[in-house]
Amino acid sequence: VGSLLLGMSLIAAGANAQTIGFSQIGSESGWRTSETESIKAEAKKRGIDLKFSDAQQKQENQIKAVRTFIAQGVDGILLAPVVETGWDQVLKEAKDAKIPVVLVDRGIKGDESLYLTKVSSDFVEEGRLAASWLAARTNGKCRVVELQGTVGSSAAIDRKKGFEDVVKLFPRMEIARSQSGDFTRSGGKEVMESFLKAEGGGKNICAMYAHNDDMALGAIQAIKEAGLKPGKDITVVSIDAVPDIFKAMADGDANATIELNPHLGGPSFDAIAAAKAGKEVPKWIKAQGPLYLPDTAAEEYKKRSAK
Ligand code: AHR
Repeated sequence: VGSLLLGMSLIAAGANAQTIGFSQIGSESGWRTSETESIKAEAKKRGIDLKFSDAQQKQENQIKAVRTFIAQGVDGILLAPVVETGWDQVLKEAKDAKIPVVLVDRGIKGDESLYLTKVSSDFVEEGRLAASWLAARTNGKCRVVELQGTVGSSAAIDRKKGFEDVVKLFPRMEIARSQSGDFTRSGGKEVMESFLKAEGGGKNICAMYAHNDDMALGAIQAIKEAGLKPGKDITVVSIDAVPDIFKAMADGDANATIELNPHLGGPSFDAIAAAKAGKEVPKWIKAQGPLYLPDTAAEEYKKRSAK
């Protein structure tokens, strides 16, 4: 009787198991890989059947994936939108099919009623925090070069805006150059090489602000190859808090990073469950992360690289 009951309850659990589609951007950075792993692990823990699709940085692939999820009749969709615009049509299709969509990590510009909620950090705040820290470190006098993330992404647009908001308050701070390195290490290295060339070898650059750690790590390499000392000759501040940036900070090559929380699966799945239960869900569920400095870097690296 016991095993029959167990079998029946497993069948019942299976019948109630949720199927969720997840359209991920790609694997451009260490942070993105952690986010994917974290969301997959959270789904497994909850017994959710997660249908995962890697868009390889292409919006058209994400739109196709969302349409496939709709055709499969999933219970909900997580969408990490690579860029901010161009989503209204496909989101309307999901809404018409009564499938709740949660935006994870990045946001969109468009009709807010077309998605359930956004689970993400405040990228404008991250930019402000990076610039405020830099202003304090340099007494408000600094010529900065900026490595932007993917063109058109909310992460790049908002991190740029937040940083500029603060720089404007300091007459002797300026963003001398700014270009996209597409959130990748190789992109960061390439763009930094061109900045260094254009800036007479880099002697006049006071700091490099990168929209993510991977680009900062690429740029650190470029600074070294140009014969300068990253972290000393050029202050390095970036965002994400991936293990390798802690190693760079412990080695004296980087100066600050702001943590971007990759554990967005839990609140996203909770939001879908709440909506299904007819509960009110806030339009923005904010994740948060502190700024880390070299003093704790060795310890953080040990903790984070052991995971
Ligand atoms: O959208 C968040 C950004 O995307 C992360 O900072 C970056 O590493 C990723 O590629």
